[in-house]
Amino acid sequence: MTDVRPHGGTEAAGADRSTGPTAATATPDAAAIGTEALRESIATELLAARARTAALTDCVGDGDLTAQHSPLMSPLVWDLAHIGNQEELWLLRNVGGRDPMHPEIDPLYDAFQHPRAERPSLPLLPPAEARAYAHEVRGRVLDLLAASPLEGAPLLDAGFAFGMIAQHEQQHDETMLITHQLRQGEPALAAPPPPPAPADAAALPAEVLIPAGPFTMGTDTEPWALDNERPAHTVDLPAFLLDTTPVTNAAYQRFIADGGYDDPRWWTPEGWEHRRRADLTAPLFWRHQDGQWLRRRFGTVAPVEPDEPVLHVSWYEADAYARWAGRRLPTEAEWEKAARHDPATGRSRRHPWGDGPPGPEHANLGQRHLRPAGAGSYPKGRSPYGVGQLIGDVWEWTASDFRPYPGFRAWPYREYSEVFFGPEYKVLRGGCFAVAPVACRGTFRNWDYPVRRQIFAGFRTARDLEAD
Ligand SMILES: [Fe+2]
Repeated sequence: MTDVRPHGGTEAAGADRSTGPTAATATPDAAAIGTEALRESIATELLAARARTAALTDCVGDGDLTAQHSPLMSPLVWDLAHIGNQEELWLLRNVGGRDPMHPEIDPLYDAFQHPRAERPSLPLLPPAEARAYAHEVRGRVLDLLAASPLEGAPLLDAGFAFGMIAQHEQQHDETMLITHQLRQGEPALAAPPPPPAPADAAALPAEVLIPAGPFTMGTDTEPWALDNERPAHTVDLPAFLLDTTPVTNAAYQRFIADGGYDDPRWWTPEGWEHRRRADLTAPLFWRHQDGQWLRRRFGTVAPVEPDEPVLHVSWYEADAYARWAGRRLPTEAEWEKAARHDPATGRSRRHPWGDGPPGPEHANLGQRHLRPAGAGSYPKGRSPYGVGQLIGDVWEWTASDFRPYPGFRAWPYREYSEVFFGPEYKVLRGGCFAVAPVACRGTFRNWDYPVRRQIFAGFRTARDLEAD
């Protein structure tokens, strides 16, 4: 995704340097909890996002903050001030009616005006000033929140604009984590504990049948859902089978060993052309040495873990793997039905495990572990059909282009989603270990170019029932 919006997508996640899940909980239900509790919940989310931003930017020096670690990414100091600038724009100006604090800097932090590659050459605020600006904005926002009725206007209802900004900051935290992954040099992020080991991975069926029938896709009721997740609508799908877990490194290594990267039969024409031009031979950050595959993660090189979901593959690679395996990528609708539809009640849940917020027992979110968990982990997070790890761990590429749902209405502005609709972008679902709970739900849609590899994306595969 881009930086433009308080976006869907790849600007996400919360890494506490040392340990923890971001304090965040998940989207509050305003109607259920009352205005005062909603205020507290919003403040908690804003503070959790800022703690994560601080952790990701205080762990390196000013030189690292102002450097561009990859032409694909902004300097970290740009993200820092952009977070403050969007918060000022949406909350202080649009909601609060205040005058701009520093109108001269607005163009610098408008993602539409300056592509990432261009940002290091801009007269950006230095780190200390960027921090001070974001801090000043936040102080005024908390004052505004304390006085806000949180109702009476579309941006205010259920605290939507505040929720959008909390999600935006967490999404940029994910983006900054990607920058950390691309950064060369000694590790800067402290290693948190590993995720829980899968309890019953060997006993899990490889795939799960999702019977034919209609389900409700998207939402009308999720208070902080973004425009592209709306409205709720019925989709009728034929029966299909879906992998119980994301595709693992071990499985992906078999594709490599079988010559999958050298056989055009498995690739779309565009994918094959890209594979050749970019000389792809393995996931990004992998290298083959002394007979084994190694991967670099946040500055540390170690052997590829066989049971972990594969990460850092493009849509083209995911699609080629699926063909090699005699399967295909699931559509976005198939993914959402497998994740949300409860055949016992006929309704769609907020999350695979139910309507309750994501807890540490449900999903690997919030940068709690700085890596995906092994396939088969999080048995309490499985969907009614028994599909696991749909939320968290790795973003999952789907077969679908990014398109509006029937009845889509751009909100709060066209550049959030509408300008990205079309065949250029493929949809990713489910969030990853770097996504915060507040920015993740069963309806959440991410999108990116099919060549993209630095994002924390993997995939799972599907097949038609008729193929039996
Ligand atoms: Fe942004």
